Amino acid sequence: MKARGTTEDDITAEVLRRFDATEDTRLRHIMQSLVRHLHAFVKDVELTEAEWMTAIRFLTEAGHMCDDTRQEFILLSDTLGVSMVVDLINHRKPEGATESTVFGPFHRDGAPELPAGGNIAPRDTKGTPTIVSGRVLTLDGRPVAGACLDVWQADSSGLYDSQYAETDELHLRGQFKTDADGRFLIRTVRPVYYAIPTDGPVGRMLTATNRHPWRPAHIHFVVSAEGYDPVTTHIFDAGDPYLESDTVFAVKDSLMCTFVRHDVVEDEAARFGLEPPFCTAQFDFVLKPVQR
Ligand code: BEZ
Ligand code: FE
Repeated sequence: MKARGTTEDDITAEVLRRFDATEDTRLRHIMQSLVRHLHAFVKDVELTEAEWMTAIRFLTEAGHMCDDTRQEFILLSDTLGVSMVVDLINHRKPEGATESTVFGPFHRDGAPELPAGGNIAPRDTKGTPTIVSGRVLTLDGRPVAGACLDVWQADSSGLYDSQYAETDELHLRGQFKTDADGRFLIRTVRPVYYAIPTDGPVGRMLTATNRHPWRPAHIHFVVSAEGYDPVTTHIFDAGDPYLESDTVFAVKDSLMCTFVRHDVVEDEAARFGLEPPFCTAQFDFVLKPVQR
């Protein structure tokens, strides 16, 4: 009889063998690759028992932090760059189509449907009023009428509505439809850079590794239309100091947007009740047709 596995490599080989009978070939591939990489990692760093226990406690705590409004595992995936690698593998776009980026943990269903020019930030009195406008287009530049833009962002204090313990009201969220020319117009406040939640194990990981928690100012969008692949993305303030070091690695050059500050009265803006100072920002989204 063959001697039982006594070396580290014997254990790895035996664990891999136990997954050989998995009928779902994709699941078998994933499980065996996971075991191979996980064992290689443990052997590479020669993990101590105390470190192994720290990792178990870390993951346990991450699980305990998760509920309907907090997702510590997504935050962990984001801060380890895994979310962006998954995004890049899954959303290879043709030249000219709007690139995707992380979804993040702060989307909520049920944002109100608003008309063109509707204000998603009616209760944010400190932020700089801002009009974001643009078009949804096809790859060859034709307008996409009736496209839906699901929009969300943090307020002028850098917090999402769900981060306020005292209320569960939706704020700084809305759904807009493009007109016959593919145009949309959103009233909001200028986004600011903000820190991701640091009161959990992910925050401790960032501190222990001398990393900052900041994300550059951005507005989230999911843009969808019949016959096109939906795109989950952000537009980033092109003047933000954290573009080079986004703590979740989500910045792409094609998603830069210039927020222009206006300090004098302008008739067009006055129609929307905008007094200076206010900002305008323009961005066109380009959708890729569904592959048949
Ligand atoms: C966000 O932009 O909402 C976000 C993305 C990843 C981690 C935390 C927040
Ligand atoms: Fe965000």
